[in-house]
Amino acid sequence: MKAIVLSGGKGTRLRPLTYTGAKQLVPVANKPILWYGLEAIAACGITEIGIIISPETGDEVKAKTGDGSQFGAQITYILQDQPAGLAHAVKIAQPFLGDAPFVMYLGDNLVEGCLDGLVDQFKTNTLDALTLLCEVPNPTAFGVAEVDKTGRILRLVEKPKVPPSNLALVGVYLFSPKIHEAIAQIQPSARGELEITDAIQKLIDLNHKVEAFKLRGWWLDTGKKDDLLEANRLILDNYLQSSIRGDVDERSQISGRVEIGEGAKIVNSTIRGPVSIGRHCHIENCFIGPYSSIADGVTLVETDLEHSVVLQQAKIVGIHQRIVDSVIGQRANLRVAPQRPKALRFMIGDDCQIDLA
Ligand code: G1P
Repeated sequence: MKAIVLSGGKGTRLRPLTYTGAKQLVPVANKPILWYGLEAIAACGITEIGIIISPETGDEVKAKTGDGSQFGAQITYILQDQPAGLAHAVKIAQPFLGDAPFVMYLGDNLVEGCLDGLVDQFKTNTLDALTLLCEVPNPTAFGVAEVDKTGRILRLVEKPKVPPSNLALVGVYLFSPKIHEAIAQIQPSARGELEITDAIQKLIDLNHKVEAFKLRGWWLDTGKKDDLLEANRLILDNYLQSSIRGDVDERSQISGRVEIGEGAKIVNSTIRGPVSIGRHCHIENCFIGPYSSIADGVTLVETDLEHSVVLQQAKIVGIHQRIVDSVIGQRANLRVAPQRPKALRFMIGDDCQIDLA
């Protein structure tokens, strides 16, 4: 069995972060979202992984993720020159996939638990497609499935106005090589994409074996700020382990599960976990509250912060109000201006959102 992981797309819903980087590389608990999927795939013994990249962010994904050795896998990068849909991605990956059955994993999705149960069901029942489903409150935003009592899928619709159920297609699928024949028979959707949902519907129409697997844990499509913060909270809550590598001075207090990277300095600060702090950060006279992830090289001075994600080399100095529910981009600089007149002064990138108290 092989795997393909999709890591293209424009990431419009996570702007401005995605103006300067791939949405799949945005960190959750200080690890790129994409890597959680790669780890889950490698953990169920699949070592040949193709990553679909786009011309815009492909080089960054490659540079960061490498040849796969850190995951115990071999990664092949496959360029999709335009965002022509998920089924189009499978089409261009066909030379890599050959006749192998495969897992398809959307690189901006986070799914709780391992893929072993899925792989077992797929193999035991000799299926042509197995889709992961999850109950959601807003099915119109996803592909939606109608299933019978035995778990067989009757019908699939992409982003339906009137959803046949509340079961959304999670971005993890297993396919036999029959999917390639189905893809060859579908047309682009109204949004101009070759939809994988339509290709699976085609398999059903051709009487091939398609089943569903209902996810019991959580699933997050990290495409938006609040989903990203929620993913960060869940990962810190479920997986973070205490590990203090940096320097913590005697005036600082650390409680709960806290990870502090090499070369980081914590001076006269209170850190209340779960919190992940990257390497070479400088944190002085701060309170860092639960569910915060601070990336490498960040400087925080006289700052109160919780339930937030701060990206690499950002600098926050002297903000005497608590910062919550925030995502602060790479190299962003938040400070109290020293000069008069006392006023707010901004240099804000496109599509930013600022909520002042
Ligand atoms: C895609 C699929 C959709 C699925 C979703 C999961 O949607 O087309 O069926 O429910 O991923 O994240 P997109 O992210 O392209 O809007």
